[in-house]
Amino acid sequence: MLFKQQALLRQKLFVLGSLAIGSLLYLVARVGSLDRLQPLCPIDGRFGPRGQDEIPLRALQFKRGLLHEFRKGNATKEQIRLHNLVQQIPKAIIIGVRKGGTRALLEMLNLHPAVVKASQEIHFFDNDENYAKGIEWYRKKMPFSYPHQITIEKSPAYFITEEVPERIYKMNSSIKLLIIVREPTTRAISDYTQVLEGKERKNKTYYKFEKLAIDPNTCEVNTKYKAVRTSIYTKHLERWLKYFPIEQFHIVDGDRLITEPLPELQLVEKFLNLPPRISQYNLYFNATRGFYCLRFNIVFNKCLAGSKGRIHPEVDTSVITKLRKFFHPFNQKFYQITGRTFNWP
Ligand code: A3P
Repeated sequence: MLFKQQALLRQKLFVLGSLAIGSLLYLVARVGSLDRLQPLCPIDGRFGPRGQDEIPLRALQFKRGLLHEFRKGNATKEQIRLHNLVQQIPKAIIIGVRKGGTRALLEMLNLHPAVVKASQEIHFFDNDENYAKGIEWYRKKMPFSYPHQITIEKSPAYFITEEVPERIYKMNSSIKLLIIVREPTTRAISDYTQVLEGKERKNKTYYKFEKLAIDPNTCEVNTKYKAVRTSIYTKHLERWLKYFPIEQFHIVDGDRLITEPLPELQLVEKFLNLPPRISQYNLYFNATRGFYCLRFNIVFNKCLAGSKGRIHPEVDTSVITKLRKFFHPFNQKFYQITGRTFNWP
């Protein structure tokens, strides 16, 4: 009898204990979220009516996967009305550069409560077929958000595609444009590594980087090779400058985003006129991945996919030197135009 009573008591204590721990965890997560709910300056500097310049807690839930369908752009009419949801044309676009860290930048900016990301690359402005579908098609590809949040998309092909600057200009001539760059030779090798991995996956063989990057006839840098051409940042930027003033661009240091992401993200917050909300708490170094990962709150964190942060093949040092020498004058021009100097060799 006594034994039975003791077992019953133990059982009750266990249930009570579980309830207490559960409540405590819930409260900690909730407090962690609430301290990010500070009043916000809307991106275009206009304040909404009183009370609308705060991000409701539900906005954070959309971003943490609780309402995954909404983020994907699926919501019923009732849900749209109930939550006052909208699908907005991006106020800022990460236009490139491929392999510069575009995914990391988008995901990290998405930590901000006023930012909502388009998860997929939309390829609206660089793909003629998509572009022909019209701007409403583009808007419908966007995730649902609150009206005072801003939507950001990234499609790195925009930076190098001839028609894109004019097309974006026609949509919104005052849009903010983000370009994330890495040391050009490293970026070119990263670009090559991605293609190489694709070939290997299909059991195909592929040329060595050296063979593609150097013209065997002239022994000079092969400017026809796309991975080389993409790294001539200034050439592409000059095309964009025919439509947009330099003030509408912000250059992100992709190498620094890897080693020290917070200051880079704070510069972007400033550029987008967002109040500083991303903190060191949101970014933690994961030694196994060898990269910073994202912490949204005590229960939800994530690292980028394994396809980000590949091991590069070893490249002949004389080829690296040749490429660096080749990129040098273009880099100087890039620093001059953008006003941002890098320690690239
Ligand atoms: P590597 O694979 O060459 O290392 P993109 O998203 O534009 O394709 O860029 C991919 C690059 O993002 C990766 O190139 C990686 O170095 C960089 N990167 C920056 N921050 C990262 C992070 N936190 N996690 C993983 N990769 C990151």
